[in-house]
Amino acid sequence: MTQAPTLRVLGISGSLRRGSFNTALLRAAAEIAESQELPLRIEIADLRPIPLYDEDLRAAGVPEPVEKLRAAVAAADAVLFATPEYNYSVPGVLKNAIDWVSRPPSQPFAGKPFAVMGASGGPSGTMRMQYHLRQIAVFLDMHALNKPEVFVRNAKDVFDADGRLTDDATRKVVAEQLAALAAWTRRLAKA
Ligand SMILES: Cc1cc2nc3c(=O)[nH]c(=O)nc-3n(C[C@H](O)[C@H](O)[C@H](O)COP(=O)(O)O)c2cc1C
Repeated sequence: MTQAPTLRVLGISGSLRRGSFNTALLRAAAEIAESQELPLRIEIADLRPIPLYDEDLRAAGVPEPVEKLRAAVAAADAVLFATPEYNYSVPGVLKNAIDWVSRPPSQPFAGKPFAVMGASGGPSGTMRMQYHLRQIAVFLDMHALNKPEVFVRNAKDVFDADGRLTDDATRKVVAEQLAALAAWTRRLAKA
């Protein structure tokens, strides 16, 4: 029997800071996918060069970093967001990148399966942000993975000083979400 091809997942972090727990969570997801031989490979996008959305800038020609991100979304089988919650919602950095990618002529998020995970410094684990992101994804016509949800609370307790995810329970739920995302992506591809 031939093996199903490995799925390409684009990881998008909503935090630009070097020590970001959410970017570390994406790196952990990539490492877990590989070490547990899950059928997906995660490539992490770089939102740092994406300018602030400006219709005038767009009219003058879509900036190259935006074109690169659009192409990465288009080429991915699924998207994995890992992002902080800012003021109970989606950070501007992530919303800005989504806004750029969503503009015509094509809308590469449409039809993509996605999962969301998030790490916060506090006890909510980005819960409220995740439901705002799911709402945005309705307009983008993306297909949300419902469960398992990944809420990483009190992030400083689950990562070590080098940003490695050391908490077993968190590693387990991340692996479960990745496996569910792979199954969800395959199911949608067959539909
Ligand atoms: C502007 C701003 C707003 C924040 N709002 C929230 C919030 O609504 N809920 C929450 O749990 N944490 C909030 N935080 C704290 C973040 O959870 C914390 O800074 C987290 O480490 C950011 O993620 P990162 O490590 O990936 O950068 C906020 C932080 C900033 C900078």
